[in-house]
This record gives sequence, C-alpha cells and structure tokens, in this order.
Amino acid sequence: MNAPIGIFDSGVGGLTVAREVFRLLPGENVVYFGDVARTPYGGRSKEIITAFTAQDIAFLMEQKVKFIICACNSASAVALDEIAPNYNVPMIGVIRPGAEAAVAKTKTGRIGVIGTNATINSNAYARTVHDLKPEVKIFSLACPLFVSLAEEGYLDKEATFLIARDYLQTMLDLEVDTLILGCTHYPLLKRVIADVMGDDVTLIDSGEEAARTAYRALADANLLNSQASQMPTPRGEHKYYVSDVPEKFTQVATRFLGEVLDKVTRVDITRY
Ligand code: DGL
Repeated sequence: MNAPIGIFDSGVGGLTVAREVFRLLPGENVVYFGDVARTPYGGRSKEIITAFTAQDIAFLMEQKVKFIICACNSASAVALDEIAPNYNVPMIGVIRPGAEAAVAKTKTGRIGVIGTNATINSNAYARTVHDLKPEVKIFSLACPLFVSLAEEGYLDKEATFLIARDYLQTMLDLEVDTLILGCTHYPLLKRVIADVMGDDVTLIDSGEEAARTAYRALADANLLNSQASQMPTPRGEHKYYVSDVPEKFTQVATRFLGEVLDKVTRVDITRY
C-alpha cells in the first residue's frame, strides 16, 4: 500500500523518530507534522496536550495516511489512548515500545525513565513497565532542560555535562541498569547521558523502538509499500508540515535528521 505513514510531534524532536523510520523503511512515503507553533508540549496539562494531539491527528488523517506514529512522548503518555479509538487507522505511540525494550534488557530489574514533566507526571512508562513485568522496579525523573539544550545544539558542551550530572545523579544512586530516554530530544544527548551513566547502564531509545514496532505492525497488517520492493534503491517521498514559520524547523532539522530539508509547508493547525 503506497499511502504514506504519518508521524507527528510537538515540534522538531519527532525527527529523531522519523530518522529511524527512514532507516528501517526506506521505501515508505512519510508525512511529518511538527506543531512548532505550540511547542513544547511537555510542560502543559493533559487537557491541552489532548486537544493539540487531536488536531495533529486530524491533520494527518486528511493526508490519507495508512498508519500513524505519535513520536512525542508527552502526547503518547497523556493523549493518544483517548484519541486513537476514534479512528480506524492504526496508531502507535512511543511508550509501549520503549517499555518493552527496557523490560527485555534489564538484568537487575531496576529501570529508570527520564522525560518531560508531562510524561513523568503521567506515570505512563511506570504503568506500562509494571503491566509487562510487575516485579520490576521503575524510577522516574523529569529532565526538562534537556529539550532546550538539544534544540540549541548544546549536545556535548561542558554546561550540558554539568546539568546531566546534576539530573542523573539520582539515577546513579538508585543503581538502575537500564535507562529509558523517554523524550524525542534525548537521543541527541546520548553521548553525554551515556558518559554520566557509565558503561554498565543500557540506554533505551524509545523512538528507535517505536520505529521497529511500526515496521512489524505494518508488515503484519500487510500495509508495507509493495511498490518499494520493486525499486532498485527504495526511496519514499518525505513531506514535512509545520504549524509556524518553517525557518527554525528547517535549521534544527538538519541536526536532528542528519539531512537538509528542501521543502517544509506551513499549515494552520487550528482549522482541524
Ligand atoms: N516531543 C516532546 C516529548 O517527547 C519533547 C518536547 C516538548 O516538550 O514538546 O515529550
């Protein structure tokens, strides 16, 4: 089926998930929507995030997508379960794939999760991990400054190390052996986080896990782009939409995606 996969996020961060989707499913057409006008979601209430998420999904539905990936951890944590049943297009978030990978990886049964305030306060990761394996101990910590650091390109500066050490000391004290990066931006700070946590702690990238889950779900539902397998080098069409001026998005996108975007279209998301 050559209809596109829809991916959305509160802004630019979801491009870390898109990057994994492009890597795993190079022949798929993809529509990406970033709600840059209303980013960040991570400090907002459940009601507001749910209202925004409903509009993001309505926009993607209008693009006739065959499958939706909610790349935003905050939206996946507080809004997706309420909205997904209203549509007959399959949708996944990033929480369950990240939780499943962490449960599979932990040896000591001590898992940490870091994310935005919305994600951490929702307890979505903790609940999902416990559903999967009740005896696992899970510790949650909000690290809101990481979002700005990633967007401003402070990927391995001394200031970033200092903040990471300060935030993550709690996780070190709790002796977790697995740490879920429960936010779209954190994979960009992986080097710093890995450095602080040390070699014995496995980092789980929820976005990467979600891309794998999407691949399996599309294959199982027979929804993969059949035309892609006939291409010598499959390369689907990638379209980008944002809810405010695209300049900053395009600029930051290069860092998040590792490629230059030639066309980004602005849409009025409040119409949806
Ligand atoms: N995309 C958000 C998340 O993964 C981070 C940025 C925001 O707060 O909107 O939770």
